Amino acid sequence: MAVDVSTLPGRIRHRFPVFEERVYINSCSQGALSDSVRDAYRRYLDDWDLYGAPWEYWVGQLEAARSAVAGLINADEDEVAVTTSVSAGVSALASGLRFPGERDKVVLSNFEFPTIGQIWHAQERRGVRVEHVPAEADGTIPLERFEEAIDEQTALVAVTHVCFRNGSRLDVEGVARIAHEHGALVLVDAYQTVGSLPVDVRSLGCDFLVAGVLKYLLGSAGLAFLFCRRDLVQTLEPTATGWFADRDIFEMDIHDYSPSPTARRFEAGTPSVPPIYAAVAGIELMQEIGIAETEQHVRELNGLLHDGLEELGATVVTSREPERSGALLCVRSSDVDALVAALDAEGIVTSSRDDNLRISAHCYNTAEDVKAVLDVLAANRTLL
Ligand SMILES: Cc1ncc(COP(=O)(O)O)c(C=O)c1O
Repeated sequence: MAVDVSTLPGRIRHRFPVFEERVYINSCSQGALSDSVRDAYRRYLDDWDLYGAPWEYWVGQLEAARSAVAGLINADEDEVAVTTSVSAGVSALASGLRFPGERDKVVLSNFEFPTIGQIWHAQERRGVRVEHVPAEADGTIPLERFEEAIDEQTALVAVTHVCFRNGSRLDVEGVARIAHEHGALVLVDAYQTVGSLPVDVRSLGCDFLVAGVLKYLLGSAGLAFLFCRRDLVQTLEPTATGWFADRDIFEMDIHDYSPSPTARRFEAGTPSVPPIYAAVAGIELMQEIGIAETEQHVRELNGLLHDGLEELGATVVTSREPERSGALLCVRSSDVDALVAALDAEGIVTSSRDDNLRISAHCYNTAEDVKAVLDVLAANRTLL
């Protein structure tokens, strides 16, 4: 079939070989592997052969990743820590907050990823009280629920941009406004949005933001980042640390703790060098493809999915409204493992959380992919 190069996927799909074998519509778990990320890994091996022990060059690659992330989220480079995972970034951040202090409460939405809940509950050992903000019966968390939970004792509010379980998008700007009115800090987990829609730390109004590159940024496992607003950096002294967080990495001094004056103080040991190559390639590729155009394209595909699912009488858990949803669309299933397996048997890759089938389109997906998913769901109506 001729490829229509006037469409976004028509221009780029050939760069993702997985589509020769399968319909890949699971970018909420992991992005598809592109030719440029594959080449980046090859370059990592070639450089190793070429230079032997190219440490200084690798440090240069780390800085290239920092710069790519800063450009992506409208931060400055000295506000970005490059970490091995979201968990590592949030743990370093938590270790840098003083507990017990004047404020001892951390407020979490019930839509957080496990790592976020677990790290803040771990701080209970340090005197923190954790309060959860529950969802309504309709699966949303209105701002009033945050207003009820956030008070003058609140040190930090952790809020996810789009929930990995149900695709629900939270009003992060609204939560940040309420938190700041009470003098609390705001941490946003944007892993389910970076790369799928424009993320701007200034317009979100957050103090900290974490995400990784594995999903809509088309990178690989082993690389994430933490944004910390410049004026907060030096107020935080992480005790989860390492030599790459030091003021002078190559000083090699074992007699003191002298963290970097920049957000690099949230880093730790030897950087994850291979995924750094992949991350730079993935972020550059996503920017070349166009993140705003991708958001629009995926909205259209999700509109088709919503229409088709409605016709099938399925329960769509994710809202249709743009301000309440991102790329991830979730559908209730009576036996989600069987449904994922039925799709897999037809060469379609999806995933699940709780009782929800997760379908997550990205720049490379087409209306034909959506139709292929809907055809399998129609043949398996009993599982909806
Ligand atoms: C919203 C969200 N946060 C965090 C993570 C994982 O973070 P980490 O890099 O610590 O594995 C994921 C994904 O797997 C996620 O979807």
